[in-house]
Amino acid sequence: MAGVANVPGVAKPDAILVADDMSRHFGGVRAVEVEHLEIQRGTITALIGPNGAGKSTFFNLITGFDRPNSGRWSFDGRDISGAPSFRIARHGMVRTFQLTKALTRLTSLENLMLGATGQRGERLLTSLLRPAWAAQEAGIRERAEELLARFNLSHMRDEFAGTMSGGQRKLLEMARALMVQPDMILLDEPMAGVNPALTQSLLGHIEALRDEGMTIVLVEHDMDVIMSISDWVVCFAQGKVIAEGRPDDIRRDTAVIDAYLGTHRSLQEDQT
Ligand SMILES: Nc1ncnc2c1ncn2[C@@H]1O[C@H](COP(=O)(O)OP(=O)(O)OP(=O)(O)O)[C@@H](O)[C@H]1O
Ligand SMILES: [Mg+2]
Repeated sequence: MAGVANVPGVAKPDAILVADDMSRHFGGVRAVEVEHLEIQRGTITALIGPNGAGKSTFFNLITGFDRPNSGRWSFDGRDISGAPSFRIARHGMVRTFQLTKALTRLTSLENLMLGATGQRGERLLTSLLRPAWAAQEAGIRERAEELLARFNLSHMRDEFAGTMSGGQRKLLEMARALMVQPDMILLDEPMAGVNPALTQSLLGHIEALRDEGMTIVLVEHDMDVIMSISDWVVCFAQGKVIAEGRPDDIRRDTAVIDAYLGTHRSLQEDQT
């Protein structure tokens, strides 16, 4: 990112995601109004901004979980504007949700195995009827076990997700998203509600994924976390990208400070 200017919408040397003229309105609320945004491949980008700035809505749009009023976006050079979420996941971009969506009546292992098909839009039941399923299942199970081990959840493999702590469910959801071996993962407040010990291990996992070459975008409110983990920071306010740059510069950016003033959540505050 050397030499990239701190300017909203600035071009990146190797963008994996490029979004143009994205807008999403809810009645009179302009939730997202992004002219141009590029995400650099292989980096951790933090998406920040006060409550209601449009961060989650932007995630929903680019991952196909919501439809914009207008906009074009491409992933890895491929136009995916308007594609459904399962197809976008198949192209290698997955996300987690601000409120975890682990299926509480399934075990950890089952949640992960379903993740291999879930975001891909394949019907598990249909798959179960196919003769080829047995062979596929072995591979899927192996990957699920690997991910459970990676996230220190092996001892929870047969526990219902509903009995796990909030932090463990966050880990489980991240592991589930990784079942499809994505190139890019969008994490919506992965640290929210997670205890400090688990937060450290989550941060370690996110850095390790980046070091393996994955592109990560995370919505985060804790400035210490942002400073310690991100290569680049994008700040949203009222649906727009109002600033982007290196963490050190963004922390001092007057537009960013102004955006947070008068909102009930300060930039420094740890929301957990
Ligand atoms: N489904 C919806 N229907 C109506 N309004 C919505 C809907 N989703 C979001 N909004 C509105 O769009 C704006 C952006 O919301 P969004 O959830 O994207 O913000 P955010 O930056 O993720 O905030 P937070 O930090 O609180 O999670 C808000 O004003 C919100 O009330
Ligand atoms: Mg949100």
